[in-house]
Amino acid sequence: RSVALIGVPLEEGSGRRGAGMGPTALRIAGVDKALSDLGHTVVDTGDLSIVPARDLPNHPKAHNLRIVGAYTRALEAATYDAAKAGHFPLILGGDHSLSMGSVSGMARYAAEKDRPLFVLWLDAHSDFNTPETSPSGNIHGMPVAFFCGLADFAEILPKDRALVDPKKIFQVGIRSVDASERVEIRKHGVNVFDMRSLDEQGVAVILRQILETIEKANGLLHVSFDVDFLDPDFAPGVGTTVPGGATFREAHLIMEMLSDSGLVSSLDLVELNPFLDDRGKSARIMVEMTASLFGRRIFDRPTRAA
Ligand code: ARG
Ligand code: MN
Ligand code: MN
Ligand code: MN
Repeated sequence: RSVALIGVPLEEGSGRRGAGMGPTALRIAGVDKALSDLGHTVVDTGDLSIVPARDLPNHPKAHNLRIVGAYTRALEAATYDAAKAGHFPLILGGDHSLSMGSVSGMARYAAEKDRPLFVLWLDAHSDFNTPETSPSGNIHGMPVAFFCGLADFAEILPKDRALVDPKKIFQVGIRSVDASERVEIRKHGVNVFDMRSLDEQGVAVILRQILETIEKANGLLHVSFDVDFLDPDFAPGVGTTVPGGATFREAHLIMEMLSDSGLVSSLDLVELNPFLDDRGKSARIMVEMTASLFGRRIFDRPTRAA
């Protein structure tokens, strides 16, 4: 596979500093080498750089909208272009507001291919707030509502853009949901596998079910991996830790099953905050996970028939 690395040094969606150093930390942890060692071609397109979008308002309930909006536009285009050119877009974040751009770019690409886009959201949070419902005003809590066309910002992307169907979103690992998010998630039919269902059913059962649905629909799958999906015990480098997260083995199994499926078309690595990390530990784990998603195996096992 040819993988395009797209660095997004965005932290203004998160309400604190540090995530902007994420792309650098992931590169230092060796994301490019991990992929090229597996036989992939890696094209590092560098970090996006933006000028704040002056046509957007200073929104009182969506902090730094002009910066997040500018990144959204740039990343939507960069992700779409990379996919269109035959690359696998791998986005190195950056806070989770960047998914407004990456997922919208993949939605445009999928629509053009006439294939449905599915999203696997690995996160402690459902990030389904809007400027109206957000308790914090931080846009990294709103990307899912945005790419479903449900968050009413000023016009960041064209009104007639490709959107994601909430029913084609699978959220796994969820354990921190705001009251109004809960209502909206149910109302729009987002598929949520919270920590309880993970405990009760195990990740393998859940993943098999998800992958089967996508395969039947001949869908593309965008994976958005928030560091806080993982338990803070071994992934402390994130601003919004929530106890009781996925273990290393659970997350690793998910990556292996995704790899086996061959369905994944794009990936975000988000919310890594190197300033809060413990000697690069979380950065290295994110790279490990990525390597497994791209085919690294402990032992070579025959791939399941497609
Ligand atoms: N739900 C909270 C909010 O809207 C926290 C969101 C955390 N999101 C994240 N991507 N870490 O502010
Ligand atoms: Mn190229
Ligand atoms: Mn998130
Ligand atoms: Mn999160």
